[in-house]
Amino acid sequence: MALRDKAAEIYGVKAKQVFIYCNGRSAMLAYLSSLKGVLIPKDGGDDLKIGVISFTCSSAVSPVLWSGNKPCYIETDLDTLSVDLSDLEVKLVKLDLVIVQHSFGIPANMAGIKMLCETHGVRIIEDCAHAFGDTSIGKAGDAMISSFGIEKVLNTKIGGFLIVNDMEQVAKVDGWNEGNLENFGLVRSLKWFLMPYLWVIVRQLRGLGKYAVKLGFSLGLLSDGYESIEHDLKKPNWYPSGLPKMFERKILKSINGLENIRSHRSKLVDLYSSSLGSSMYPDAISDNEQLSLIKFPVILDSKVHREIAIAALREAGCYVTDWYNHPLYPSKTNLEEFGYELGECPVAQDLADRVLNLPTAMFVQEADAKKYCDILNSIVVE
Ligand SMILES: Cc1ncc(COP(=O)(O)O)c(C=O)c1O
Repeated sequence: MALRDKAAEIYGVKAKQVFIYCNGRSAMLAYLSSLKGVLIPKDGGDDLKIGVISFTCSSAVSPVLWSGNKPCYIETDLDTLSVDLSDLEVKLVKLDLVIVQHSFGIPANMAGIKMLCETHGVRIIEDCAHAFGDTSIGKAGDAMISSFGIEKVLNTKIGGFLIVNDMEQVAKVDGWNEGNLENFGLVRSLKWFLMPYLWVIVRQLRGLGKYAVKLGFSLGLLSDGYESIEHDLKKPNWYPSGLPKMFERKILKSINGLENIRSHRSKLVDLYSSSLGSSMYPDAISDNEQLSLIKFPVILDSKVHREIAIAALREAGCYVTDWYNHPLYPSKTNLEEFGYELGECPVAQDLADRVLNLPTAMFVQEADAKKYCDILNSIVVE
């Protein structure tokens, strides 16, 4: 079975509605580019004004600019870590399209967002990069993208896809892909194929590991999912491209374990949410049963406590990542190039100062998760 057919089966759509790419950025870039001449900017200008949430990473926004459009940053809702409805309502008049991100896998308030968008004739695309396999989301908009990349639901490190709901637009994407996809290339294929094994090796090198990582990055043998030029909004010349078959096979194999992975993650989400005070994580986590999140976001009361907590968790062997600790994560993102003005979305920026992420990956045992909660609880009551 081809990956396209598998994704279609999972999401209950026709295979021709699914488009497979080398990453989620390519999927979003292809969709937004295919809208040229189809969706006419409300303000009569050349570029579409596209709403994006402010508590996000640069890779969720760069395709907006690469496709010649303009991002409009929307404030972040504390309950869902996605679009804030009251800010959306204010900004909708000037928007043509909204990208709704389901952050960490937490469902955004699609009913509320859809109602507002319909009133203003604004289209929706859902960003399900963090939620592959959750079929309760990704169907409310005109299209959705998802990712098989680094730190996503599966540990496949590469790949992404687009699902288009409108059949006329399906033909447009097909047409756009025909003349615009880059060649992934054999050398790059080999590098990306070997990369997961190299990561395992360098992680075992301890003291020498950081030099090996530096060397690996400079030779293009290791990647954290970004090329350094992307921080300045430059597009790597191999985006957008399709996905070589060797990776399709790997992803298909990994999808066989999808239910196991999702249920492991949801067991850890249950454990974290029942062991931590409910003020320490977004309300939507307790409001949704059996949520399978790629990371469990913890919101501490101050940046100082966050830093203390990260140090203590790392000391205990916890894999804590720095996701979203900066507006348009990572901290190297050139905000000016991305059209984000510091202070523009204060709620998102405050969240960025206070968030940390607990892991939900397969390597985390329940006993580890309990230990991490004890550490966090002891810091919060200090
Ligand atoms: C919310 C979100 N959207 C889109 C992307 C892009 O996915 P990819 O890394 O496959 O290009 C990412 C990746 O980090 C993401 O976190």
